[in-house]
Amino acid sequence: MKVLVTGGAGYIGSTICSALEDNGHTPVILDSLITGKKEFVENRIFYHSDITDKSTLLKIFSDHPDISHTIHCAALIIVPDSVKNPYEYYRENVAKSNELFKILTDLNCCKIVFSSSASIYDTVPGFKVEENSPLNPLSPYAKTKYMMELILNDFCSAYSNFQAISLRYFNPIGADPKLRTGMHIKNPSHVLAKLIETATGKSSVFQVTGTNWPTRDGSGIRDYIHVWDLALSHVKAVENFSKIFSETNNSFQVINIGSGNGVTVKELLQAFENVYEAKINTVETIPRPGDVAGAFASCDKAAKLLNWNTSLSIEDAIKDSLKWNEKYLKLFS
Ligand SMILES: NC(=O)c1ccc[n+]([C@@H]2O[C@H](COP(=O)([O-])OP(=O)(O)OC[C@H]3O[C@@H](n4cnc5c(N)ncnc54)[C@H](O)[C@@H]3O)[C@@H](O)[C@H]2O)c1
Repeated sequence: MKVLVTGGAGYIGSTICSALEDNGHTPVILDSLITGKKEFVENRIFYHSDITDKSTLLKIFSDHPDISHTIHCAALIIVPDSVKNPYEYYRENVAKSNELFKILTDLNCCKIVFSSSASIYDTVPGFKVEENSPLNPLSPYAKTKYMMELILNDFCSAYSNFQAISLRYFNPIGADPKLRTGMHIKNPSHVLAKLIETATGKSSVFQVTGTNWPTRDGSGIRDYIHVWDLALSHVKAVENFSKIFSETNNSFQVINIGSGNGVTVKELLQAFENVYEAKINTVETIPRPGDVAGAFASCDKAAKLLNWNTSLSIEDAIKDSLKWNEKYLKLFS
């Protein structure tokens, strides 16, 4: 299959491209490189453009009329930036996606897999969320993801042939196990990056932010998923696309993509120390503004509809992140 991947020069999009290739498919990348890396599109079919550039999209579909699906990853993704610059986030994520979906509809390429986020869920007792659990997107970033789901749902109702799967990612970590690509942001704020920074001396202490949450050890709970497993869920989504929609009348499907296991920050710290074989200098602090206790996924729907389960552990993700960190420092510093 040939698949258009928007944002294919980014962390997740580039890993999806590798997973597509390893499974015999051909990615066609559309990326403006606003945050993505040109190194990640080397030796791949690549169009350097904004997702709303109609002439580029016409060229892509004229060059590749056999594109069957679009995986839409392109977005701005930094939560604190979205709080400071909501206009930019609603324009880049919501308005531009709306435009892209219209162009794809006109081109009759109406099978979409969308990168959504578990950040749109409300906190629920027990922390396990199903696809129909209550939503409460807090940041402008999370709200853009929710709004894009609303748009997709309405396109699916209004336009015949338009079908979409929204994959709600939990907490992707790790890197491509073959180290083709990985996390590329200079100062990432997520917890594994902070652990690596402390382990490698870039930071003096690792902060466990919040230790009074109603979790088993008081620290926040997340559902860390190896980015390679996450990428493979997209391969399954495009491969099983027709089957999924032949079994339901609903042309818009939402599917959680996590490991199904809640892991606390203290448990992740312990796993990191086991893999790294050293103690990490740690301090316990109060939660940061906007922090929440967390959530983990019910993955039954993904197993049933996509025929997909995770196969890699958080230890695998930690090892791949550490290896990628070494390569990243050589490549990009
Ligand atoms: N990384 C996470 O923890 C996480 C969690 C949940 C959901 N997601 C979603 O996954 C997707 C990919 O995230 P990522 O971590 O790979 O981010 P990333 O910043 O690494 O990748 C985003 C890519 O989109 C491109 N892009 C942005 N706006 C564009 C535009 N208007 N036109 C063309 N290209 C554009 C960027 O250049 C970049 O290559 C995003 O939609 C994000 O919201 C990410």
